[in-house]
Amino acid sequence: MRCACRRAAVMVAVWVSTAGQAAGQTSLQPGGWDAGLKLPDAVDINPDPHVVEINLQARVARVTLAPGQSVDAWTYNGGVPGPLIRVRVGDRLIVHFVNNLPQPTTVHWHGVRLPIQMDGVPGISQPEVPPGGSFTYNFIVPDAGLFWYHPHVMSAAQVGFGLYGALLVEDPNEQVGVADELVLVLSDMSLRADGDLESPDAGGSIARMFGREGTHVLVNGRERSTLVARSGAPQRWRVVNVAKSRFFNLDLGGAIFRQIGGDGGLQEYAVENDTFVLAPGERADLIVTPQADPGAELVLRSVLYYRGFGTVEGRYPFDNLITMTMAGLPPYSGGRLPDTRRSIEPLPTSGATAIDLEITLVQGNEDPEYRITGTHVTKDKSVKAQLGETQVWTVTNKSAWSHPLHLHGFFFQVLDEHGAPVKPMAWKDTVNIPFDQTVRFVVRFDERAGSWMFHCHILDHAEGGLMGTVDVGAAGTALAPHEKH
Ligand code: C2O
Ligand code: CU
Repeated sequence: MRCACRRAAVMVAVWVSTAGQAAGQTSLQPGGWDAGLKLPDAVDINPDPHVVEINLQARVARVTLAPGQSVDAWTYNGGVPGPLIRVRVGDRLIVHFVNNLPQPTTVHWHGVRLPIQMDGVPGISQPEVPPGGSFTYNFIVPDAGLFWYHPHVMSAAQVGFGLYGALLVEDPNEQVGVADELVLVLSDMSLRADGDLESPDAGGSIARMFGREGTHVLVNGRERSTLVARSGAPQRWRVVNVAKSRFFNLDLGGAIFRQIGGDGGLQEYAVENDTFVLAPGERADLIVTPQADPGAELVLRSVLYYRGFGTVEGRYPFDNLITMTMAGLPPYSGGRLPDTRRSIEPLPTSGATAIDLEITLVQGNEDPEYRITGTHVTKDKSVKAQLGETQVWTVTNKSAWSHPLHLHGFFFQVLDEHGAPVKPMAWKDTVNIPFDQTVRFVVRFDERAGSWMFHCHILDHAEGGLMGTVDVGAAGTALAPHEKH
């Protein structure tokens, strides 16, 4: 469905935009096309071309979500989202983190294959960073792709208050052939009627069991963002869903989303669809080529997605995310997109250890609790793995809600019901386990010993019991693990 509402053609001068532009290619968009969306870049204070060194401060700051709508949010460097950290694959990233929040916190680097000491989990990786305290994260970034960072202390509250940011790891050798790139951080935030942040406990244990969704839906920290785009010119969208519960189901009026990658960089080959679902924690690498007359508007919507009992009833069917106005430029018609491919070796499953897990919801002493059980799971929800061991996880969801399961520190390959890799093959660290369904994946643990968390990325569910650890290697970790999420 094309937008019927037409405005006078927007007159935009043609010049080459440098914003959001991949190296070595010329932008096809009008200058300032992404001004309504562009994330601030983190400032690299290290002159070494292979080291990115930044200062990151968590603090309460006033942010504007929409005209006339500002709030004292929890921020990294004063913004929601925090700064976009751009590195090249193989670079060292050094982050001087300072906590100026009224609560302890940590920073977790979601999806990055780093040493356990840098994983940001309190009690396992590091002590909590107290108010006024600091911590230096320092690790090499081994994989290209879009990653993200967020706290791992009271994360349902802290992420909900605005603490998240994108980490884009670029590979200069990738042949994607699209100059114009957007990093889109999808989130939501709950405000009370008086405009302040809603309490993370609002609605009590029932709301926690459902997973709380925010009242204000945001793209790069803005409600109803805007973009000016040239018809026919391809755009590369690097998208991450950082919302604490909300699934995004993207729809651009029937335009095609060409997916070339996901959590762990490019996938085996591209696939095309006219809607695209992103569960909390997941990322997507999409090519979008809007087509419409100059002055026309296309609206990117998130259509309500059924993630289990009671999650769609009585709700508005969609949220408007971005209004894209077609520039007053002749449509672009040049060039074909390269056939973006990546060869991915299937992990061998013969000889792999079978780990069977079951997710249930039971009535605890006071509140409903999520349980993870299985033959290889101890009572404190830990799974053992040897260094270098390959495991096939079969996760059955017997609860009434879907659970996007995230594994720290390792990528896995999703398998079909026959145990063959799902095509196109891709590396993932977060996979949705739909209600009443079973999902399988194969993972190879390497030499990085430690207790690596796995949990539902609906953060209320994680805090409601849906989290555990994989203890890789015999030694475990120096710090005593405790269940502070
Ligand atoms: Cu993105 Cu343990 O989380
Ligand atoms: Cu869940």
